[in-house]
Amino acid sequence: RTRVAVLISGRGSNMEALIEAARDPAFPAEIVLVLSNKPDAAGLQTARDAGIAALAIDHRPYRGDREAHERAIDAALSEAGIECVCLAGYMRLLTPFLTGRWAGRMLNIHPSLLPAYPGLHTHERVLKAGEKQHGCTVHLVTEVMDEGPILGQAAVPVLDGDTPDTLAARVLAEEHRLYPAMLARHARGERSPLILS
Ligand code: GAR
Repeated sequence: RTRVAVLISGRGSNMEALIEAARDPAFPAEIVLVLSNKPDAAGLQTARDAGIAALAIDHRPYRGDREAHERAIDAALSEAGIECVCLAGYMRLLTPFLTGRWAGRMLNIHPSLLPAYPGLHTHERVLKAGEKQHGCTVHLVTEVMDEGPILGQAAVPVLDGDTPDTLAARVLAEEHRLYPAMLARHARGERSPLILS
């Protein structure tokens, strides 16, 4: 099984979905480490409760030296024998150091149907634009934020009366399905993009 680390910054519900899926011994990847740049991320405790090593590597002592922070993360990943990294609500921009080190072996989940709506506040922006469809994307991480080859997507309808919160909840439910499915495909070496329906 592929040894996976999940990088988080907060709640960690996608991390939890990955941990849950990987409890099945037939799942081709195992979650062996959770890292957060925020010591108070709720997901750290969730991971520990699930029996998974969870570590905070605070970015603040690095005082804006992003690469030095990433070197510390990379050292922890190497130490744990990690083969694949899943970003799951990890809210730091990455430098070419870390994206280069993990090229082809680092996945991200983003709450929009990329290439539409990269960046933050996707649900608000989708509602403002009057879109009829929204969703989430799992892609390989490259130097450019929210770009990189798409591994899979899941779409949801935008409904009359949606607020950013109701729409986010509908998308999040799909994220929890999509991410484990895409990690499994990636770990098995399947490379063709998939639309989950
Ligand atoms: C998820 O919706 C994820 O797609 C999004 O943050 C949320 C994290 O929730 N990621 C981004 O916006 C990345 N820029 P979680 O901590 O419960 O998984």
